[in-house]
Amino acid sequence: MKLFSEKPLKKESGNYISARESYNISKENKRITNAIERERNRKNVPESEYLTVMNNPENVVEYDNLHTYFFTDIGTVKAVDGVSFEVPKGKTVGIVGESGCGKSITSLSLMQLVQRPQGQIVQGEIRFNLGEKSYDIAKMPTEAMQKIRGNQVSMIFQEPMTSLNPVFRVGEQIDEVIKLHYPQMQKDEIKNRSLKMLDLVGIANGEGVYKMYPHELSGGMRQRIMIAMAVACDPKLIIADEPTTALDVTIQAQILDLFRNLKEKINSSIMLITHDLGVIAEMADFVVVMYAGRIVEKGSAHDIFLNPTHPYTVGLMASKPVVNKKVDRLYSIPGSVPSPIHMPNYCYFRDRCDKRFGRCNDDYPPEFCLSETHRTNCYLYE
Ligand SMILES: Nc1ncnc2c1ncn2[C@@H]1O[C@H](COP(=O)(O)OP(=O)(O)O)[C@@H](O)[C@H]1O
Ligand code: SF4
Ligand SMILES: [Mg+2]
Repeated sequence: MKLFSEKPLKKESGNYISARESYNISKENKRITNAIERERNRKNVPESEYLTVMNNPENVVEYDNLHTYFFTDIGTVKAVDGVSFEVPKGKTVGIVGESGCGKSITSLSLMQLVQRPQGQIVQGEIRFNLGEKSYDIAKMPTEAMQKIRGNQVSMIFQEPMTSLNPVFRVGEQIDEVIKLHYPQMQKDEIKNRSLKMLDLVGIANGEGVYKMYPHELSGGMRQRIMIAMAVACDPKLIIADEPTTALDVTIQAQILDLFRNLKEKINSSIMLITHDLGVIAEMADFVVVMYAGRIVEKGSAHDIFLNPTHPYTVGLMASKPVVNKKVDRLYSIPGSVPSPIHMPNYCYFRDRCDKRFGRCNDDYPPEFCLSETHRTNCYLYE
């Protein structure tokens, strides 16, 4: 079913849209989002509608041509526009790119937490491997998704204070997560597991911290609590969206250390989202580089760090500060990202690219295969 037209909206004059145009856009948006919402809010949908099979059973998640759009009054924002990558079992996949490139919306789509009704998955699949069966999250109704979220997949956000409930003791909040996942567990068993989780995330005085309220803890401690909550239910996948960005530098290093140690102690796969290549270099097995809603390069950490190919990835590497290397001015990629509403049909990076040549005026570059793991969307590698 095609719900929306690909035809760009015609502007009546200049760079501004008139009140009439805006009215027409909102009317059309309402029609589109209402239709999607009706589908999503159905009750008792048979499981067969969203059952799927993994391409490779060794993957926990397979994104396949995902499109997540925002239907706004000034036009359709293609926040995620045809993203495909996989997260193998027990591995860490880093997603990197500058602010606004669609990293968070990619992960929120998997959680079905994109702001509705204006934000919607309009095309593609997100296959999630539950072991004995697999679901396509893009097709799952809200009702079914609630059983997966926080149970099979958990998320750690940038700002822990907004995710913790200020009126409950942190111990109770970890208990709550465990209760949801292991309903048969007794009260004292649950508390023991919570204390074990506090220990796992490096909190020494577990018994004491268990009884504290979020405001009594420092930012770093709160982020540890969030991590404890995320691992408490033994999820298949943990999504960490800029988990260290809101912390100061020394605490950042501690939390990263914690993540690295944790990786060896738990079975979960990790999807680590950040704008900081340094963080990715320390943690990730695979790297996905995003630019303006699309993936421009992906590969193993080895591929991306030793042999970056896409001029955008190369630019990102060059703009990373290096300890002990004195530079007059840190490199920054010149120019800016095209408007998310009026994307060109040629390479989105062209106007900022110092390697562009004749071929770059053609259609958006397809994916070129450099090795079994390494892919790039750049005509230099045709
Ligand atoms: N609620 C929203 N309404 C409209 N556009 C949005 C909304 N949330 C995000 N976007 C747009 O989606 C794009 C991707 O956002 P996001 O995934 O949050 O970027 P980041 O890579 O920084 O995490 C941005 O261009 C942003 O403007
Ligand atoms: S396709 Fe051309 S413009 Fe785009 S990144 Fe490659 S060289 Fe640059
Ligand atoms: Mg983000």
